[in-house]
Amino acid sequence: MKNEKLIDLLQRQIEVEKKTLNMLSKAEEEVSETAVRLAFLDLRLDSWKHQKFLEGMIEMINETPCDEWSAKVQRYVDRVKLKKTLDALIIEEKEMLSIAEESIEEMKDPIGKFLLVHLRDDEKTHTENLDELSRLIMTSPLQSVKAVKGTDIDCS
Ligand SMILES: [Fe+2]
Ligand SMILES: [Fe+2]
Repeated sequence: MKNEKLIDLLQRQIEVEKKTLNMLSKAEEEVSETAVRLAFLDLRLDSWKHQKFLEGMIEMINETPCDEWSAKVQRYVDRVKLKKTLDALIIEEKEMLSIAEESIEEMKDPIGKFLLVHLRDDEKTHTENLDELSRLIMTSPLQSVKAVKGTDIDCS
């Protein structure tokens, strides 16, 4: 089977993420200091995100290389929706970033400042990654295994 090793690796990684997620959920419930709870929350959500991403990647790899027209049309519609949503989101993300910068200036508490800087850095990667992600998805073939260009629908 193709991609057997990769799928196996992804699955192993999912198991580690799941274990971490469990551990962090418990840790988060057990602490009372807000700053510590937020540190656990941040890690827990990352772990959850990683798990979902890895599961999605397995799904992507297992998708049939040549499927029906309707599936391709749906993929095209999804992409257009993605593009529209991301274009709107980029404006919001820029606002989040500039408000976060201001809040950092105002925050006197050192842990609070650290957490806000962390959040601001997140916002930065959101803005930077959105453009790249949108470009990459819009230019990749609707049928990723056989096709080369975005317009290709090769069922030979
Ligand atoms: Fe992870
Ligand atoms: Fe954001």
